[in-house]
Amino acid sequence: MSAPRASVKSRPTRIQGEAEPRVPVLKDASLESVADFINQGKAKNIIVMSGAGISTAAGIKDFRTPGTGLYDDLKRFNLPYPQAVFDISFFKPTLTHYFLPLLAKKGLLLRSYTQNIDMLERLTGLDPDLLVESHGSFATSKCIKCDTMVDSDIVKKHILKSEIPHCKKCGGLVKPTITFFGEELPPRFGTLAMVDFKKCDLLIVLGTSLQVEPFNRLITRVPESCPRLLINRERAGEDIYGGFDFNGKWKYPNVRDALFLGSCDEGTRKLAKLCGWEDELQAMYEAGNIKMQEAEELEALTLAKEQEEEEKAGTNVKGGSKDTKDTKDTKDTKDTKGAKDAKNAKSAKDVKDTKDSDDLDSLTERFQATNLSSTTEKADAKKDSKETPYKVASKTESKIKNSDPSVK
Ligand code: OAD
Repeated sequence: MSAPRASVKSRPTRIQGEAEPRVPVLKDASLESVADFINQGKAKNIIVMSGAGISTAAGIKDFRTPGTGLYDDLKRFNLPYPQAVFDISFFKPTLTHYFLPLLAKKGLLLRSYTQNIDMLERLTGLDPDLLVESHGSFATSKCIKCDTMVDSDIVKKHILKSEIPHCKKCGGLVKPTITFFGEELPPRFGTLAMVDFKKCDLLIVLGTSLQVEPFNRLITRVPESCPRLLINRERAGEDIYGGFDFNGKWKYPNVRDALFLGSCDEGTRKLAKLCGWEDELQAMYEAGNIKMQEAEELEALTLAKEQEEEEKAGTNVKGGSKDTKDTKDTKDTKDTKGAKDAKNAKSAKDVKDTKDSDDLDSLTERFQATNLSSTTEKADAKKDSKETPYKVASKTESKIKNSDPSVK
């Protein structure tokens, strides 16, 4: 599958003789029409395609919205601290994210294709098999040279220290498995898209400007009779060949494309309501929030406990200066004895050893002083790092990672 690239705008045209959906599959371009389609049992293989717009309500900025988008003004990225960009526990799934497991529970979700790397879909408990993270995610990291998977926590530690993580096997650079422009998309994207989109009988597109290829082209891969719904703050996907045609402005009247202009949460809530699922969606959202809250509290407790243990260990290290001195004394006695033995030696080599041994006391003392201070520093540094919420994130992510379908 090709690498992501910004879409080149082109005026849509129809190829003469191209097959067209002659029979309208939707009454009109409204959400109500889509709900009717679902309520009539016509949608059994729903595909959801999503983008940054589904996560803005969680506090994560999208890329292209003027004034607030990440690309427009990175400085206004509303994070309490820069590392929060790695702190998955800082962000919680939105109501829209819970629409996915709701569809899955109804047995209607064929797959969810997201461009987002924030992993919020996973936090809803959505079966990982039903998820395609088209632009990768932070859950895993790998060497760009030999493809060896590397623990993402290790990578983050390097990044936070402004160090470049390298592969232990081949020395290559290691980076999170997110897809940059010019890089190949995960193989899972191409493999599944090829099969899934042919089977799709309702496409729901949420919170994306549909400006990045090849992801945006997927909307053209569903059968001609498959209705397509866009829920977004602005119109999108109309300038793609075979893309949305909400007003029938092309050669043929619109028979299958629906549009809800507004927030993703409003749109999915309204759709759920029209299908009689609103209470269920709300209940899943609230239960999810409680679960996340509990998980956070548990982590906070675990952290506090760990910190206490660290502090105790720290005290031991400080108290350890005495222990270390005792050890040193014992070692010195031994070493001095060795030095004395060496002094008795008659060979030239033994004479040299004797000279070295004369310096042993001061050398040992210096070595132990250095070692002791670095141990104490390490303990303090570790203690400090425990106090940052980043640590909470890494733990949460480790849990998530265990459910990552790409991690064997
Ligand atoms: P964009 O920022 O391009 O588009 C987000 C869309 O969501 C815009 O059309 C917004 O109007 C809309 N939007 C924002 N908040 C919304 C909300 N609460 N409810 C409804 N709509 C909302 O983000 P993406 O389309 O996801 O790729 O961008 C796609 C790709 O571009 C990203 O995956 C990334 C980026 O470059 C790579 O990094 C490879």
